[in-house]
Amino acid sequence: MSQARLVVDPAFAVGETDPRLYGSFVEHLGRCVYTGIHEPGHPTADEHGFRGDVAELVTELGVPILRYPGGNFVSGYHWEDGVGPKELRPTRLDLAWRSVETNAVGTDEFCAWSRRVGAEPMLAVNLGTRGPEAAANLVEYCNHPGGTYWSDRRRANGVAGPHAVKVWCLGNELDGPWQLGHKTAEEYARLAARTAQAMRLVDPDIELVACGSSDARMPTFPEWDATVLEHCYEQVDYLSLHSYSQERNADRASFLACATELDGYLDAAIATADYVRAKGRHGKRMNFAFDEWNVWYTQNAPVERGWEQAPRMLEDQYTVVDAVVVGSMLISLLRHADRVRIACLAQLVNAIGAIRTEPAGPAWRQTIFHPFALTSRYGRGLVLRPMITSPRYETTEFGEVPVLDAVAIRDEDGIVVFAINRDQHAALQLTVEVRAIPGLSRATHTYVGGGDPRAANTEADPARVLPRTGESTAVDGGALTIALPPLSWNLVRIT
Ligand code: AHR
Repeated sequence: MSQARLVVDPAFAVGETDPRLYGSFVEHLGRCVYTGIHEPGHPTADEHGFRGDVAELVTELGVPILRYPGGNFVSGYHWEDGVGPKELRPTRLDLAWRSVETNAVGTDEFCAWSRRVGAEPMLAVNLGTRGPEAAANLVEYCNHPGGTYWSDRRRANGVAGPHAVKVWCLGNELDGPWQLGHKTAEEYARLAARTAQAMRLVDPDIELVACGSSDARMPTFPEWDATVLEHCYEQVDYLSLHSYSQERNADRASFLACATELDGYLDAAIATADYVRAKGRHGKRMNFAFDEWNVWYTQNAPVERGWEQAPRMLEDQYTVVDAVVVGSMLISLLRHADRVRIACLAQLVNAIGAIRTEPAGPAWRQTIFHPFALTSRYGRGLVLRPMITSPRYETTEFGEVPVLDAVAIRDEDGIVVFAINRDQHAALQLTVEVRAIPGLSRATHTYVGGGDPRAANTEADPARVLPRTGESTAVDGGALTIALPPLSWNLVRIT
C-alpha cells in the first residue's frame, strides 16, 4: 500500500472558520423552489406550504446561510411581484430559465422559511434590468422597522418585525454574456457602487457582495475583478466568485484533482484584491463570498422546450466521484478560510441540488449531501495548514498532483482531519502526526467512497451511498495510521 504523511501543528494556523462557509443557494430555477422546498398539498407540507421532509434534510445538511432568489433569475426579477396577497401576484415569464413564474413564493415566505430551517437569508438584488431605487426599496421593505411606505407594506403583508437581512448581493454574474443585463466591468462597477450607496443609506449595518468572476476560465478574469474593486472597494465587504466543475472527456484522474484549480483561482482572486488594496491605499482586506459552487453536468438548452412552470431542469444525479470532488472543494475552501468567509453550495434542492424530491413523493440525500453535512458539522474551529508528504500522479489538466489532499481543524475536542485519496484503485496508508498537541488518544474514521465510483442515490435506492465508519485507532507516540480507501473522502476525528 502506498503511504502518505500529515504533520499537524497548531503553529501553522490559517484562521478561524466562519460558519457561513457552509451556506447554500435557493434559486427560482426548475424545481428548486416549486415542488422542491415548497409544495402545498404534499403530505409533509406545513401550514405555509413548505415541505417538512425537505426542511428536515436542510436542517441536517447544516446550512447557516441561504442565498436567494438567484442566480440568473434575479437579473430579470421584480421583487414587488412576490409580496402581498397571493391572488394579486402576477404570473410572469422568467427569461433566464424560460419558465413561467407564479410568484407564489417571494421574499416574505422565503425569509421566514429560511429562519425556520436555521439559516439566515442572503438576498440578491436585480442589477441586470434594474438599479439603485428597486434595491434600496427592497432593503427598506426587509429591514426598516416601520412607519415608511415599504416597511408598512411589509407590516400590512403580515410581517410585523423586520427580516433583518444582513448580507446582500449586488446582482449576479454580470460578467457573463448569458446574463440578462450583461455589462462591461466599468458599467457594472459604477452601477454597483451607486446601488451600494443607496442600500447603505437605508440600512448602514448591511454587508454587501460585489460580483466578481463567474468562473476562473472566463476570459475577463481577473481583469473584471480588479476593475470592479477599483470602483467599489470601500463600498463592499466581499467579492463574489463562482465555480462549477465536471468530469470532462472521461478524465477522472484530472477531475479528482480539480481542487488544485480551485486553489489557483482563489489565490489569484485574493492576489488581485490585494493589488487593488495596495493601489488604492485601502485599509481593510477584501473578503470573498464563493456564493455558487458545485459539480454540474446537465446543460438544458432552455429554448428547446415550451414555457412551463417549475420544469425539470439541471436535475443532476450525483455519484461517489462527485461526492469526493465536493469534499475536496470544501478542503480547498477551508485552506482559504481566512479570506473566504461565505460560500454557497449551488444549489439546495433538485436543480444541481444536494437534495432531490419527487412531487407528492419522497425527498432524499444525494451523494454530495454526505461530505457536505459532515464538513459543516465538524469543520468548525481553527484551520491548520498540515505538512503533507504524498505520492504524486500525473494529470492531463493540472500536471503532477499529490494523491493525498488534506486539511486539519483544531476544535475544542481535538483535531479534525479531512482527507481525499485520489488514487482510484488502491488504498493509501496515512500517518497523521499530532505530537504538537498533547493529550490526544483516539481517532475515529468516517468515509465516503471505496466502492463503485458510479454509485448514486435514487428514489428507488436512496441510501445506496452513505458515510461508512472505519476502524477507530489509538494515537501511539503522537501518531496514528489509518487506511484511506481508494477514491474516497475521509473524516478523521482525533480526540
Ligand atoms: O446555479 C445555476 C446558475 O449558475 C445560476 O443561476 C447562475 O448564477 C450560474 O451561472
